[in-house]
Amino acid sequence: MSTPQVGIIMGSQSDLSIMNAAAEILQKFNIPYEIDIVSAHRTPDKMFDYAKSAVDRGLKVIIAGAGGAAHLPGMVASLTPLPVIGVPVKSSNSIDGWDSLLSIVQMPNGVPVATVAVNAAQNAGILAVQIIGSHNREVLNKLAVFKDELKEKVNKSSDDIKK
Ligand code: RP5
Repeated sequence: MSTPQVGIIMGSQSDLSIMNAAAEILQKFNIPYEIDIVSAHRTPDKMFDYAKSAVDRGLKVIIAGAGGAAHLPGMVASLTPLPVIGVPVKSSNSIDGWDSLLSIVQMPNGVPVATVAVNAAQNAGILAVQIIGSHNREVLNKLAVFKDELKEKVNKSSDDIKK
């Protein structure tokens, strides 16, 4: 099996139904990935080890999802030089997703987290593929096809709605 290039982590098993969409995109583009539960609050030592070992394990991008007081993406970003994409999860303990979003997006200067919309794990997957694609022509070509498919879908809806 090839070395994972993208790490998908989430604060709880309860985030999986949302975070699965990122994994599906990576499968679609044939990007090797790993997926795990890593909690900033409940397993801080595991979070530290995960982030600190990510470069040596061959990861190129990390996608981190969490909800409520969502510290996982920011803390992981503080521990690794790799790009971190944050997914604010509208979890059961979240006040409408705002707490998750603001906890992830409002990072201090020097430690960015590329934050997608609430529950937008699919976009996190696409952004990770784009980061990999920026230095991989084959992946970039697949992304161009993907964009064409999006366009075709809208054009078809446009035709259909007029019928
Ligand atoms: C966060 O708290 C997790 O990322 C999850 O979104 C939320 C709720 O976790 P559980 O109580 O369902 O495990 O840390």
